[in-house]
Amino acid sequence: MKWTSLNELREKYLSFFESKGHLRLPSFSLVPMNDKSLLLINSGMAPMKKFFTGEVEPPRHRVTTCQKCIRTPDLERVGHTARHGTFFEMLGNFSFGDYFKKEAIPWAWEFLTSPEWLDIPPEKLWPSVYVDDEEAFDLWHNVIGIPAERITKLGKEDNFWEHGTGPCGPCSEIYFDRGEKYGCGKPGCRPGCDCDRFMEIWNNVFSQFNNMGDGTYTELKQKNIDTGMGLERLACVMQNVDNMFEVDTIRRVLDKVCEISGKTYGENKDNDISIRVVTDHVRSAMFMISDGVIPSNEGRGYVLRRIIRRACRHGKLLGINHAFLVDVVNVAIAESEGAYPELRERGDYIRKVLSMEEERFDATIDAGLNILSNLIRGAVKEHADVISGEEVFKLYDTYGFPIDLTREIAEESHL
Ligand code: GLY
Repeated sequence: MKWTSLNELREKYLSFFESKGHLRLPSFSLVPMNDKSLLLINSGMAPMKKFFTGEVEPPRHRVTTCQKCIRTPDLERVGHTARHGTFFEMLGNFSFGDYFKKEAIPWAWEFLTSPEWLDIPPEKLWPSVYVDDEEAFDLWHNVIGIPAERITKLGKEDNFWEHGTGPCGPCSEIYFDRGEKYGCGKPGCRPGCDCDRFMEIWNNVFSQFNNMGDGTYTELKQKNIDTGMGLERLACVMQNVDNMFEVDTIRRVLDKVCEISGKTYGENKDNDISIRVVTDHVRSAMFMISDGVIPSNEGRGYVLRRIIRRACRHGKLLGINHAFLVDVVNVAIAESEGAYPELRERGDYIRKVLSMEEERFDATIDAGLNILSNLIRGAVKEHADVISGEEVFKLYDTYGFPIDLTREIAEESHL
């Protein structure tokens, strides 16, 4: 297997599935259309739910995409670990009532292991199946030839894919073995273990059910394939790096943050947190703005505002005391505009929205930060474990200081 850039990997995957009769579609917007269940698109299948249910006729029954995705439930963890990020790209091959397991599994295997494609050594790959799915087990064992003891059967928590309402089903995942040095060393360590040794890189969902949102499931009128393969994770494997911040295109954005701040990545834990926050959040903000989200006080506009403000604050923590987001986003645009031409076309607009929000935040943050630091100092001195709601409200109401940022900063001092 040979080092492959993230941009090349995306192209390889999409052209592999084109060679299997799939129609390549551009990524859908991050802003969901006619779907009130989602604030932002969070998986490859999300914009195509109606193709899975059969309510809308797809342009072809085999489709492949690389979808822009944002997931923010762990927003406050981003930066603190190298595992968390808000923006990622999800590769997918989809069948809408066309092929099913007996094509999907061998194709996944071919793409990953064939010398013509990724050439990953087969012994590094470990499939898992849903505990009752004898058909998938049989395909892995008898068609692909994986020894039974290397196929892990997992329950609903791991091997049944659903995200809120809509099409869902049991799945079969493929894990990459990163080697013993990442493992917990326990005798039962295998896919599904909590440690870092086995990394899930491919998820084949056998989409057969519709989650109605009231705890019930109905059977879909057609059987589908929904794949989720994180491009950044695959790039980690192909570039032999630990986490997405080390992947070529993302690392160049991170290096820009280091250059602007004069800090070196990997030298100081707190600086590393801030460097990762700025890197991830500028990329997310760039894609959101290019898809028409604007900073505001509610809904997805508020997600964007939080992300930009978090990036600004961590810039300050790195000692950057001038506007800097545009310099970072220019690198992020250059890295991704080949695959997403809208970034180039809307580049000026992205820069304008980012810098206006940065300016706006700058005007409020210094006063708020000073007041908050005093409050925190006072609380710590008095051995309190909270700041009063009254003070927090005043910070918001009088100084425009956002409550989530107050919470995050207070938590850093265990308040
Ligand atoms: N829709 C399958 C996945 O995101 O893993």
